[in-house]
Amino acid sequence: MTTARRIDGKVMAAELSAKITRETAALLREHALVPGLAVVIVGEDPASQVYVRNKKRTAEACGFHSVQHTLATNSTQETVLALIDELNNDDSIHGILVQLPLPAHLDEQQVTQAVVPGKDVDGFHFINIGKLTSGNTSDAFVPCTPAGCMLMIEAELGANLSGYNAVVIGRSNIVGKPMASLLLQANATVTVTHSRTADLPGVVRTADIVVAAVGRANIVSGDWIKPGAVVIDVGINRIDVSVDGETRSRLTGDIDYDSVCKVAAAATPVPGGVGPMTIVMLMANTLRAARLASGLGAD
Ligand code: GUN
Repeated sequence: MTTARRIDGKVMAAELSAKITRETAALLREHALVPGLAVVIVGEDPASQVYVRNKKRTAEACGFHSVQHTLATNSTQETVLALIDELNNDDSIHGILVQLPLPAHLDEQQVTQAVVPGKDVDGFHFINIGKLTSGNTSDAFVPCTPAGCMLMIEAELGANLSGYNAVVIGRSNIVGKPMASLLLQANATVTVTHSRTADLPGVVRTADIVVAAVGRANIVSGDWIKPGAVVIDVGINRIDVSVDGETRSRLTGDIDYDSVCKVAAAATPVPGGVGPMTIVMLMANTLRAARLASGLGAD
């Protein structure tokens, strides 16, 4: 019985964050430039509020100019678009992130497409999606979660994934689809699976690299995993567990970590895996946006 290596997202994110902080200090010293990040949140979704607070805190720790705009739940589409227009035209802001999901009455697509591509640090604009899928990433913004997953995969297997089979579970625009593009770009042979896939466990068993982004607690178990695979868990699911007769809420991923670790070579935990990497990739994208906007080159 093997025990998989634990891919520590907290440690990787801290290292990357330290590097971004050093580069931000150099940018100030040498070019009098401070990267600016604006986060827009509409409404009071508690999970979104936690994410937004973490993003602001990390941006400040990196030395960024950081602003948060909190709009009321019942804000109109026009109000949200007017704020984005203002931020698009604000030279102190290099990255704009609109926290999703938006309240149901708002048109999410129109909002995400209103952010100018050069400030789209989420990588949701069609221009950035097109650059990613066509392999033109030199000045593109790649969505933060798949970009973070990719760094973790590279740390295990190197940047060239030639000959590896990768299976992505989930086909969302935020994770599954851009993840598939990145893996393909790195020469992996990629299969994207989803809720309509026949024999999902059988398909996952062919994978040297598994990225689980389904949003269902612990569904990927050890008997789905090819021995020696690298398993990345994007899921953040809140479940109730009983501790000493009391019901407590706990975060868990899409993989059943303990059983997967008996088979895999390496796996990411939840919490402490992909989550911290996602936030730090937002900082990396914001620094990149500031550099590109100032004609300094991506990195
Ligand atoms: N909500 C959940 N994940 C994300 C993300 O990556 N970006 C934004 N803007 N909202 C999210």
